[in-house]
Amino acid sequence: MLPAYIPNPAAALFGGGTPIDLGRNFSDGRRIFGDGKTYRGLIIGILAGIITGIILIWLSSSFLQEGLPEHTFLSVTLLATGALLGDLVKSFFKRRYGKERGTKWPIADQYDLVAGAFLLLLIGDPAWLFGTVTLPIFLVILFITPILHRATNLVGYLLKVKEVPW
Ligand code: CTP
Ligand code: MG
Repeated sequence: MLPAYIPNPAAALFGGGTPIDLGRNFSDGRRIFGDGKTYRGLIIGILAGIITGIILIWLSSSFLQEGLPEHTFLSVTLLATGALLGDLVKSFFKRRYGKERGTKWPIADQYDLVAGAFLLLLIGDPAWLFGTVTLPIFLVILFITPILHRATNLVGYLLKVKEVPW
């Protein structure tokens, strides 16, 4: 899951600048995505996830890692891209519900990346998804994701990279 987990903190660290919606509003008068979704964050975040995946592929071909699922360039690209597209789609609906940028939206804020990553895998490489993510692995992912999400955001807040600890 690292190729899906890395893009969000990478976007928080290196994002900023021109927002993806270019500051434009949706028909409801609210921002389409908001200032928290930028081109730089999207691109650097996805690249960081893919590079993480390439390192994982290299590690598993260099050292014997019994039992760890094998990544491919496609699987890590879909995980990284899906994670931030999920985050973007989440923000679209967050704005539609009238929630301002950076406010808390429990469940959605934590699982957007998992939903986006798995949805892209389902479309782009279903054989890899069903061959790798078994039910126990899926349950572990559901269990650790909100814990990791909370922990990284807390660290990001303490390091003053994030404005809020969620
Ligand atoms: N970020 C970015 N581009 C993205 C995603 C994130 O630049 N595509 C950066 C922004 O600086 C953002 C920070 O990472 O503020 C944290 O991301 P996130 O918590 O997803 O955004 P929020 O500011 O909380 O906005 P939202 O309410 O839309 O989730
Ligand atoms: Mg947020």
